[in-house]
Amino acid sequence: MAKALLCFSILIIAFTYFNVCKADEKIGIYELQNGHISINITNYGATVLNVLVPDRNGNLDDIVLGFGSVDEYKNDSTYFGALVGRVANRIGGAQFTLNGHVYKLPANDHGNTLHGGSRGFGDVVWTVYDYVKDSHLTLTYDSHDGEQGFPGELSVTVTYLLIGRNKFGIKMEANPKNKPTPVNLASHTYWNLGGHTSGNILSSHTIQLYASRITPVNDNLIPTGEISPVEGTAYDFLEPRTIGSKFNELPDGYDINYVLDRTGAGKTLTKAATVRDGESGRKMELWTDQAGVQFYTSNMLGDTVGKGRFVYKKYGGFCLETQGFPDSVNHRNFPSQIVNPGDSYRHVMVYRFTAS
Ligand SMILES: *[C@@H]1O[C@H](CO)[C@@H](O)[C@H](O)[C@H]1NC(C)=O
Ligand SMILES: *[C@@H]1O[C@H](CO)[C@@H](O)[C@H](O)[C@H]1NC(C)=O
Repeated sequence: MAKALLCFSILIIAFTYFNVCKADEKIGIYELQNGHISINITNYGATVLNVLVPDRNGNLDDIVLGFGSVDEYKNDSTYFGALVGRVANRIGGAQFTLNGHVYKLPANDHGNTLHGGSRGFGDVVWTVYDYVKDSHLTLTYDSHDGEQGFPGELSVTVTYLLIGRNKFGIKMEANPKNKPTPVNLASHTYWNLGGHTSGNILSSHTIQLYASRITPVNDNLIPTGEISPVEGTAYDFLEPRTIGSKFNELPDGYDINYVLDRTGAGKTLTKAATVRDGESGRKMELWTDQAGVQFYTSNMLGDTVGKGRFVYKKYGGFCLETQGFPDSVNHRNFPSQIVNPGDSYRHVMVYRFTAS
């Protein structure tokens, strides 16, 4: 009897300990380094903190915007480097209907839901599942049923990996456990290929976007449901040109989803963008298996004290967030983001960095 009681007590203690530890996942910084590229990531928000790549003279610079300490990411509204979800981008009216049920979400952006709500995947502590310094970091997160209003449990995995000498890959996967749910993950890194302290990107950076169409938006950046050609408009980056060259034709910079021209058949990766910085000679190419890419020129970035106390300003970086179309849950003509239990959401992005 006493023995049984002792065993039972040990079991309870072990169980409690396990759960406390689980809830109290430690926040750390993990470096991926292959002697050419070096990348730091924290499991807070699965956030990319630094990306160091050589310029045309072999000098390393950190080419992503961010904060000087992980703590500063906890009180942040820029989403610097974060892995956003459960549904990245905006959901109009902060709600959607699925199988006859209306799901209400936190309205954290002008009455709409932005990047998964007020505490999305970019604001939670992920579990370090696997880490090999010269190869990859795999992080996992178990989102509970009803978290930020979304239906069902969802297991999410993101792997950051170095591929060869000059490629950086991000592999995302999500598996609903018990209910169908929308899933749309995105990596929200702000890039400045001249180095994160080199300021305005508008005339220094040239971009080419392999996308003939966009999904136009209303004043609060909610898609109207149209899919419009870019040809001849300020949105046309089919041929490379400087990011700011048609700014005078826009209300305020770019913050829009481009519909990628899928060149590869089936599930192969397609090229989304090529960006070049004239000064440093750095070039970034991006491939993905997603249908869209949100191009954002940090229009809403107010003066923000970042790494090394440098003050980032409006247009101090750009984002290329590959993903499904924004507000897909409320537009039948957009590709569906609903994932059923037994099915997996998958998303791949590959960056290649060169300099000349
Ligand atoms: C990246 O992280 C490593 C390990 O924590 C640290 O030694 C290094 O200074 C960091 N790099 C940058 C650029 O902050
Ligand atoms: C967090 O953000 C709020 C509002 O932007 C600000 O008032 C507060 O000082 C910040 N706290 C820290 C610790 O930075």
